[in-house]
Amino acid sequence: MVTKSVQDLSTLVSLSKRRGFVFQSSEVYGGLGSCWDYGPLGSLMKANVKRAWWNAMTRRADIVGIDAAILMHPTVWKASGHVDGFSDPLVDCKDCKTRFRSDNTESYLKDKKCPNCGSKNLSEPRQFNLMFKTHMGPVEDSGGIVYLRPETAQGIFVNFQNCQQSSRYKVPFGIAQIGKSFRNEITPGNFIFRTREFEQMEMQYFVKPGTDAKFFEEWKETRWNFYLKYGIKKENLQFHPHGPTELAHYAKAAVDVQYKFPMGFSELEGIHNRGDFDLSQHSKFSGKSLEYFDEANKEKFIPYVIETAVGCDRLFLAFLCDAYREEVTKNDEGEDTRVVLGLHPQIAPIKVAILPLSKKEELTSVALKLREELCEDFDVMYDESASIGKRYRRQDEIGTPFCVTVDFDTLNDKAVTVRHRDRMSQERIDCTQLNTYIVENLKKF
Ligand code: GAP
Repeated sequence: MVTKSVQDLSTLVSLSKRRGFVFQSSEVYGGLGSCWDYGPLGSLMKANVKRAWWNAMTRRADIVGIDAAILMHPTVWKASGHVDGFSDPLVDCKDCKTRFRSDNTESYLKDKKCPNCGSKNLSEPRQFNLMFKTHMGPVEDSGGIVYLRPETAQGIFVNFQNCQQSSRYKVPFGIAQIGKSFRNEITPGNFIFRTREFEQMEMQYFVKPGTDAKFFEEWKETRWNFYLKYGIKKENLQFHPHGPTELAHYAKAAVDVQYKFPMGFSELEGIHNRGDFDLSQHSKFSGKSLEYFDEANKEKFIPYVIETAVGCDRLFLAFLCDAYREEVTKNDEGEDTRVVLGLHPQIAPIKVAILPLSKKEELTSVALKLREELCEDFDVMYDESASIGKRYRRQDEIGTPFCVTVDFDTLNDKAVTVRHRDRMSQERIDCTQLNTYIVENLKKF
């Protein structure tokens, strides 16, 4: 058997549409650029991705969660540096009208050429702010301008004292948040890798100045291990430390966790040492002290922040890329290809498929009863159409760890056949033991 991994994103785009993971937004109207909708399976899987991250953060004794509003006081974005500094250099091609970012376009950096038509008839680069602006209230005057947040982090900084005082946590401690962010990216693309509306999973860890370098290293290791725990292959991950010219305006030090997407190693997560930049700025702009009082040492300081920030959609894509495989075997008719999403069971959208061997009522009634019982604890899919072989393949392609077949023997022995996605091995399990079997075997993946 030959196993092939995913070669290009178009394979995943078509699987996602066919099986209901991700659809183009507003497809019936021809779609809206770089916007995507998560379908029946995609929304289940995305919830699992978020749950895995959320639990990894908020089940720790030193991290609390928050869910802040998308719209924030406009001065937040002045203080954070986004109004003045969150921009990319934009160039227009006067011939083919393509717009592109000049700082990461090879043909422009090398020969000042348009990446689309090769023309040199280009505008000067001008700074283009990536924040989406909107108006609050019924009158569209400049006093009502608000922004759709370009990162979730600021909702955490401005709630630092609220969270610290209400939870009575002591520094070092962290605040975690999952939520939508918006950036008017000049060049979105690569499916859900870079979009204009996306979800971030960010955690800010507040530490005493001087201990920041140690915690930065600790978080690098913690985040790396998170990816390994959920089955991402080690050889597809790498750290990319930022050099001085790559550092964001707020960062003292930064490293990206990169994943080997089909288009090459690219940023999955950013880990930043933000120093006291954000809390100091919000103190300055709001006029309120955001100092922390360390009771034990009777000292006041503005905590430093170690930030871990990953895009939920980008991690979703990394999971799809990493899990996708084609198993090709030679047989009498030529070749047979089994497409499998080898997803970690906690990430897989469906845990168990219930498949009656025939559509006869005596089998379907047993199968539907099993479905009712199992869906108390798991996401379950019921499928009675097509041959059993075809139905197994349908489940392999969406990453379902277990298929449960109800056959005519079930009527006598009150047992079912459980088939394992990866090994394709089969076991006969007593119906009364099925729930326990699945719980235990999901852990063994
Ligand atoms: N608070 C820090 C911050 O937002 P970032 O590196 O700009 O840092 C963090 O973003 C993560 O958010 C990225 O590593 C990426 O996973 C995700 N992300 C950023 N822009 C994105 C976009 N346009 N589309 C999808 N995900 C994006």
